[in-house]
Amino acid sequence: MAVRKFNYEFEDVNYYRFSVYRLGSNVQTVYAFVLDDLLIDTAQRFNRENILKVAKEHEISKIILTHHHEDHSGNVAFLMKELNVDTYAHPETVRILKKGFSVSVLGKLMNGDVEKAHLKPLLETDLIETKNYSLQPIFTPGHCNDHYCYYEKNKGYLFSGDLYVADKIKYFAPYESIFTQIDSLKKLLQLDFDVLFCSHNPKTENGKKRLQNKLNFFEDFVGTVSKYKEEGYSSSEILNKMGNKENTFYKVITFGNFTAENLVKSALKDLKKIK
Ligand SMILES: [Fe+2]
Repeated sequence: MAVRKFNYEFEDVNYYRFSVYRLGSNVQTVYAFVLDDLLIDTAQRFNRENILKVAKEHEISKIILTHHHEDHSGNVAFLMKELNVDTYAHPETVRILKKGFSVSVLGKLMNGDVEKAHLKPLLETDLIETKNYSLQPIFTPGHCNDHYCYYEKNKGYLFSGDLYVADKIKYFAPYESIFTQIDSLKKLLQLDFDVLFCSHNPKTENGKKRLQNKLNFFEDFVGTVSKYKEEGYSSSEILNKMGNKENTFYKVITFGNFTAENLVKSALKDLKKIK
């Protein structure tokens, strides 16, 4: 396994791409962001030495997490110990990491495991301050229940964790909710920003437009699913009608957990709730 790292700069923000390669193919990429001496997210376990190098280089004195998933929290306990620093996150992230959680088989293969860690809870009313920045946590569930985006109002930056990822997506995990993500996207679109520091796909211009595209995609998707549901089709039939195909590799390796049908099922489940 070869692990490579790339670094980028936008204005005074440094951000780093941490990828994991298997048999020459990139199987996972995640970014971590540095603002002054603050680190946002800690990359996968397999990039431990790379993120430590970055953290030391920037003399990191504080860490915040967007959520508990292993590609974001993979080195949090290690970095806290190595650097003797505190980490702040949503109270639910604090609870999950204190108790520990089991990473899926695919997650372990791509990212490695996550050690328990004692974080400090951060409320939406708490601001994270550095020399040049002030970040406001914005509770944005839907991808998972402990998701914070971080908003830098003066600079017009949004650190969006896993809420954006792409204008259109094909697959969903069973714990994700399309309606809750729609609500979170609407909440974010009230804010004034142009830079979208997405954890998997950063967009340094037209970030708000990209987030709007994602919202439009979800709303269209729900509309289409709703129409086929009224016509009496099942989730797998709706998937076929929409011309969406499963990725057999994802489906098999996640034991059916990360699928195109889950996106349809999430819409059906949420539609049922509003009936
Ligand atoms: Fe995630």
